[in-house]
Amino acid sequence: MSALPFRIGFGEDAHRLEAGRPLVLGGVPVPHAELGAVAHSDGDAVLHAVADALLSGLALGDIGQYFPDTAAEWAGMDSRVIVARALELVRERGYVPGNVAVVVTLDRPKLGPLRADIARSVAALLSLPESEVGVSFKTSEGLAPAHVQTRVTALLVRAGEG
Ligand code: C5P
Ligand code: MG
Repeated sequence: MSALPFRIGFGEDAHRLEAGRPLVLGGVPVPHAELGAVAHSDGDAVLHAVADALLSGLALGDIGQYFPDTAAEWAGMDSRVIVARALELVRERGYVPGNVAVVVTLDRPKLGPLRADIARSVAALLSLPESEVGVSFKTSEGLAPAHVQTRVTALLVRAGEG
C-alpha cells in the first residue's frame, strides 16, 4: 500500500498511420480520416496512453505486460477492454482516477469538433465527470504527417481522500 494519498501517472503511445484503416481516438471513431492506425489492436492511441497512465501511477508496469501485442487473442481488440482492466487494477489497490489530461498530436484531420465526444467517452470509461478530462490537440507542424502521438497524465486519488 502506497504512503501517498495522491499519485501521478503518465502514459504515451504512438501509431503509424496508413490509408484505408480506421482511426479511433478515446473510443471515438474519427470521421473522414484519410489515414488510420496500423496496430495489433484497434489502435486507439488515446486509450493505450490512458491505460499506461493509470498503471504507471501505481508502478504497475505497462499494458504490454497485460495485453501482449503478439497474442492472437488480442488481435483487433477493443481498447476499452484494456482501460477497464487498468482501472480494475488501480481500484484493487484502493485508488480511483481524479482527473486526466490527454494530448493528441496529429496533423490531419482537425480534431477540435470531437473534443467533447472524446472527453465524454474517456470520462465514461473512468467513471469520471466530463469536466475531469482535459483534451488538447496539437499538430506536428508537418514533421510526422503519418503518425499519431498521445500523452496522458492521470491523478490517482486514494479512496477516502477525495
Ligand atoms: O499544433 P498547433 O499549435 O498548430 O495546433 C493549433 C490548433 O489546432 C490547436 O488549437 C488545436 O486544438 C488544433 N488542432 C486540432 N486538430 C488537430 C491538431 C490541432 O483541432 N489534429
Ligand atoms: Mg497503441
